[in-house]
Amino acid sequence: MKRIILASVCTGLLFSSPLSALAEKAAAQGKALFEKHCAVCHPNGGNTIRPEKTLHRKDLTENKITTAKDIIGKMRSPGPGMTRFDKATIPDKDAQKIAEYVLNTFK
Ligand code: HEC
Repeated sequence: MKRIILASVCTGLLFSSPLSALAEKAAAQGKALFEKHCAVCHPNGGNTIRPEKTLHRKDLTENKITTAKDIIGKMRSPGPGMTRFDKATIPDKDAQKIAEYVLNTFK
């Protein structure tokens, strides 16, 4: 009996660990930042200006954008029609959260 209680306490700790709480917080921040800075032109991961350049994995991969670093690179030096986001506007830490949100959301 004691073992069962111990096991369930451990499982509980695992799922509510500070690490997953932090990850959840970062994901929520990524979403909020995306909505603030990007969603005007990329609603639901689309692209209102260049419809063929969405944020969905297929288009991203075709354009050789596969990692968070690639997405941050795009923010720092975008192509025609996209706003440039420098470090003063979106610091690297926030840019990373946005990039991870994009990669995890638009598949
Ligand atoms: C003013 C409109 C506008 C805003 C705001 C904007 N984008 Fe873009 N985005 C574009 C356009 C236009 C393109 C296509 C041109 C290019 O490749 O840069 C594009 C392309 C991209 C691509 C490449 C897509 C592909 O399939 O090749 C990524 C990634 C991207 N944007 C991410 C972002 C992120 C992240 C933000 C917010 C921080 C953002 N964009 C904000 C207009 C915008």
